[in-house]
Amino acid sequence: MEKVVIVTGANSGIGLALCERLLTEHIQLRLCLACRNMQRAEAARSALLASHARAHVDLLHLDVGSAQSVLAAARELKARNNAQSTSGYKSIFQRNVVNMFATAEGLLTQQDRINSDGLQEVFATNLFGHFLLVRELEPLLCEAGRMSRVVWTSSSNARRTAFSIEDIQHANGTEPYSSSKYASDMLSVALNRHKNSQGLFSSVICPGLVMTNLTYGILPSFFWTFIMPIMWLIRIFTNTFTLTPHNGAASLHWLFLQTPESLDPRAKYHSLTSGFGANYTEPRQMDIDDNMCELLYEKLLELEKDIRRRLTGLNQLECNDMNVCST
Ligand SMILES: NC(=O)c1ccc[n+]([C@@H]2O[C@H](COP(=O)([O-])OP(=O)(O)OC[C@H]3O[C@@H](n4cnc5c(N)ncnc54)[C@H](OP(=O)(O)O)[C@@H]3O)[C@@H](O)[C@H]2O)c1
Repeated sequence: MEKVVIVTGANSGIGLALCERLLTEHIQLRLCLACRNMQRAEAARSALLASHARAHVDLLHLDVGSAQSVLAAARELKARNNAQSTSGYKSIFQRNVVNMFATAEGLLTQQDRINSDGLQEVFATNLFGHFLLVRELEPLLCEAGRMSRVVWTSSSNARRTAFSIEDIQHANGTEPYSSSKYASDMLSVALNRHKNSQGLFSSVICPGLVMTNLTYGILPSFFWTFIMPIMWLIRIFTNTFTLTPHNGAASLHWLFLQTPESLDPRAKYHSLTSGFGANYTEPRQMDIDDNMCELLYEKLLELEKDIRRRLTGLNQLECNDMNVCST
């Protein structure tokens, strides 16, 4: 069956490597690169089409760190879907939909700030924006007879001790990245509990240590080049040094090949590599508390309501302003 895959953070690193891997083995699928920077998105699309000329690659403007952008992107996806159905083509969402998410803020710098929605930026980018997107697309993803899935790119840095249910945005902590990744692990478990019966499945992966813009953002690239021989050596003794984006995307690709019902909702699927560089995927149990997952889910639904109210208020204000101007 033809599948639709929406990849966030698709213009570089692990997201782009996933797109490359998918097209290499599944040229018939319909790929949507959801990116905030359209110039980079266009460059990624051209690179993918250069090696897969027959591929179907769409672009979607999406800044997952902005609620307004997420809602606009969801509207655009729905409109494209409707346009396809009314023009006689099979609608996009009549097919099996697979959403794969890969996006990030800084890894070790752990710098955070308030974004334009008044949310902590790392939380908004890594978790809330994607949550809002899933919520907005739920009527399509959970339509009767359809099977859809969400895959969260988490990290081995997702630590329970970094997360507090009293401060889900991590406004008062110093490890926003770890907190947001642990929260996405929990959200995945909660989504499975609430949505499996409606055909929506969620999974979590860890890509291992991968050389991407994210890692080059921590330390300058010359430093990584300098220690690279040591990293290759260490890889003989540890399987988590996946190093290349291609290897890092292994578990994302592996999940794509599985039936969602066969997956363990409490496992994190790790991309790993042998000493000789062969990549493989291994599930490991997550350290998750069910009650905490439920609480987080409720808090996210509350926050969603709040953000929607705020945005409606803002739109209302803008309309009022326009009325004043036009009279
Ligand atoms: N690299 C590692 O060792 C490692 C380890 C564990 C987990 N991860 C996770 O893997 C995922 C992918 O990271 P990567 O290593 O491939 O890094 P990367 O090459 O820097 O890719 C990050 C991608 O996310 C996009 N992005 C960032 N903020 C965004 C926003 N607000 N809206 C839309 N897109 C946004 C970036 O787009 P722009 O071009 O617009 O910035 C970029 O395409 C992340 O979730 C990261 O936490 C990575």
